[in-house]
Amino acid sequence: MPALQPPIALCSRTSWSAASAETTREEQSAMSEQQTAAPDFGFHGEALDNIFDDYETMLESAPVGYSSNYGGFWYIAKSEDIFDAEQDPDTWSVGPSMLLPSFGTHTPLIPIDIDPPAHKAYRKLLLPKFTPMAVGKLEPGMHETAQQLADDVMEAASADPVVNASALFARPMPTIIFSRIAGYPEEDWPQFDRWIDEIIYDRTTDPERAHAAGDELYEYMARLIDDRRKNPGEYDDIMNQLMNSKVDGRELSDDELLSYGYLLFVAGLDTTAWAIRSSLWYLAQNPESQQKLRDNPDLIVTAAEEFLRTLSPVQAMARTALKDTEVQGQPIKAGERAVLVFGAGNRDPQIFDKPNEIDIEREDNRHLAFGGGVHRCLGSNLGRKELVIALEHFLSTVPDFELAEDVPWHGVGPLPLRIKKGQ
Ligand code: HEM
Repeated sequence: MPALQPPIALCSRTSWSAASAETTREEQSAMSEQQTAAPDFGFHGEALDNIFDDYETMLESAPVGYSSNYGGFWYIAKSEDIFDAEQDPDTWSVGPSMLLPSFGTHTPLIPIDIDPPAHKAYRKLLLPKFTPMAVGKLEPGMHETAQQLADDVMEAASADPVVNASALFARPMPTIIFSRIAGYPEEDWPQFDRWIDEIIYDRTTDPERAHAAGDELYEYMARLIDDRRKNPGEYDDIMNQLMNSKVDGRELSDDELLSYGYLLFVAGLDTTAWAIRSSLWYLAQNPESQQKLRDNPDLIVTAAEEFLRTLSPVQAMARTALKDTEVQGQPIKAGERAVLVFGAGNRDPQIFDKPNEIDIEREDNRHLAFGGGVHRCLGSNLGRKELVIALEHFLSTVPDFELAEDVPWHGVGPLPLRIKKGQ
């Protein structure tokens, strides 16, 4: 496939890059010396194991600080500062990528890596597909899939009481639902997990492998677009919507279609799988909460919000300062990178009572799991609904379960659960 070139519209705002190049290594290490609380703060892989301890320290004593990880960035931990930055795209650009490290894609990802004003037209294209009403229409299919997968878990448990609920339940649920609405053929679904693992999780340890997987995904989507052009038909899916939409009076270029498709793929599958897996991880260790939700299924909606707050699938997203600014008295210069640490904001004691406690009945829950400004998650209605429906069917089908092995709370890796018999 030919190398993809950034469409002109995507490059309208590049002042960050020139300024960024001016930030020398010496300046970066001088910055890191100013901070003592969490100079090696990171938010990928093993860094996530004890990240909630980092957040406590940051929120208590250094709500803005410099980390030398991932090329160097300022972290912003307090909920109000994150909300302020989210509302101020004139100061905070999403370029060169909201992802840090970036996925190494050929072009900025649409719409997440695009600043206003270009961002709005792209986002508008898919808004109708993600309204509460549009997502409501998908509910019967979601219930059917969740029940089928919960039955699969029970079938596996009849042979061996220890089952991997991530592979059998948390991961396939969003893959199936999203692929259906995106228009990806069912026979292709089994290969999607590997792409997600390599693109998202290997990018900090093995960027080459991550790029290779990203190229495979681009090629896969390019073939799908080509097939659709050769075999046009009546489709009501996301691919059809994008292929028949116009931005500024023109059709989307192939680069734009691929970029949007790529972003939806990485944004829609892993996040929701993580949310389902981490909720089950918590419930496996809290039998009284399991039972409470079985006895009061109406509480699952509230509990799901609390799991999203405390075990957020997206712990942090990057920005770049477009001009000199200040957060909590800390000067940040134009061109410097900053990270909005949603996971820390979600545990800010100024906003949440007993912030580190998981209270499945917490009512006032203004969390940042879906972000908060013009880039607020486009798929939040879908992600939320999938999580709630997944938990409903899992809890009503699978009897008492506990962790069979100590596994990390984060990510989409194995979740070995021991299903107790005789319920
Ligand atoms: C529980 C599941 C999910 C979580 C926690 C989540 C979280 C997020 C977060 C934190 C952002 C960045 C927001 C910001 O910086 O303000 C985001 C953006 C986005 N998400 Fe999600 N997401 C989830 C599910 C989904 C799903 C299912 C889809 C679509 C299939 C999706 C599509 C997107 C898109 C398109 C954006 C970019 C929006 C823009 O730039 O305007 N997400 N998501």
